[in-house]
Amino acid sequence: LGNGLALTPPMGWNDWNAYGCNVSEQLVEQTAQAMHNNGMQAAGYQYVNIDDCWMASSRDGSGNLVANSAKFPDGIAAVANYVHSLGLKLGIYEDAGTATCAGYPGSYGHEQQDARLFASWGVDYLKEDWCNIPFGDFSGRSHQQVAQTLYARMRDALSATGHSIVFSMCNGWDSSVQPWNWAGPVANLWRTTVDIQPNFASMLNNFHINVGLASHAGPGAWNDPDMLEIGNGMTATENQAEFSLWAEMAAPLIEGGNVVNPSSSTLSILTNKAVIAVDQDSLGRQGTQVSSSGGHDVLAKPLANGDVSVVLFNETGSTATISTTASAIGKSGSSGYTLTDLWTGGTSTTSGTISASVPAHGVVMYRVAGGTTGGGGGPTSGPIHAVGA
Ligand code: GLA
Repeated sequence: LGNGLALTPPMGWNDWNAYGCNVSEQLVEQTAQAMHNNGMQAAGYQYVNIDDCWMASSRDGSGNLVANSAKFPDGIAAVANYVHSLGLKLGIYEDAGTATCAGYPGSYGHEQQDARLFASWGVDYLKEDWCNIPFGDFSGRSHQQVAQTLYARMRDALSATGHSIVFSMCNGWDSSVQPWNWAGPVANLWRTTVDIQPNFASMLNNFHINVGLASHAGPGAWNDPDMLEIGNGMTATENQAEFSLWAEMAAPLIEGGNVVNPSSSTLSILTNKAVIAVDQDSLGRQGTQVSSSGGHDVLAKPLANGDVSVVLFNETGSTATISTTASAIGKSGSSGYTLTDLWTGGTSTTSGTISASVPAHGVVMYRVAGGTTGGGGGPTSGPIHAVGA
């Protein structure tokens, strides 16, 4: 979406994965303060996002949404002020239908009123979900056509407020909607998958769906394979894999765990600046699968300075050597390339072979420098889709 926002994938936190409906002012403010103090904000995390269940069960007499007064005694504007005082931004959740997924009032028929209210509160980011859609009001029209209508309505309502509000669509789990095919001019990001769960199989499933959609992503318009589950139940190796894969796919890095009391492993994964730099690279290309066989994947992502980021990913349950070459990842013209291991920081040189022993469910991630990029059949030879109207 050409609103000048999310030129690199949004980074932040959202309460849903770890807390479900137990969202509150206290949780959001404690989390913002933790992010401010624990290195996450300095590493690039910016949005502190409230998910479903923040509302009272009905609108007020003027039709305005109201925050649940037990969970948010000071109201959303006060939370926004607090979050802004730390230099962070606030996100909120609504739904394109008559009710949210958890049953609270939806924005259907109230798009302008809700957008104006969010803007007046100082909200900087809206995640708009796709539950309880009144398809009966749109007879003869497909889910995709209804989504195009309703999300464009909210886009226009947000735009009319004059405030900078990142727009996140959450409808990709409805398999007939396929937002990647049309949402570039509508939203800054769109979900491509079902809801993620804190286990390797779920993370792997969302990776498989999202990785093939690379041609649709670019600055201001990103594929969203759902929020991170770092620290929510996977092993450290699996957490590292998720973080690397999401960065390689230029996915939004919205952490869904407890970052008030994170383990040192969780925090060090979330603040790995070399991996974050791959995600946030200004070229804005989503990495693609260069090869995949027997659960051994090689991904490559061209970067703005000519380097290429490579992820060797072992989906299987046993350690394996995974290999590729400089030419396969789109590099040529040098007899010595420098590999920087983005998890250990170690460097090495190679005349062409890129290979490592990769643990079960794990990754090795390299930044490859040297030579020229873009020749041969590597990922840089694909089309660059103009996105964002
Ligand atoms: C849907 C979304 C989730 C979360 C819940 C809240 O399932 O996909 O990310 O927002 O709704 O009810």
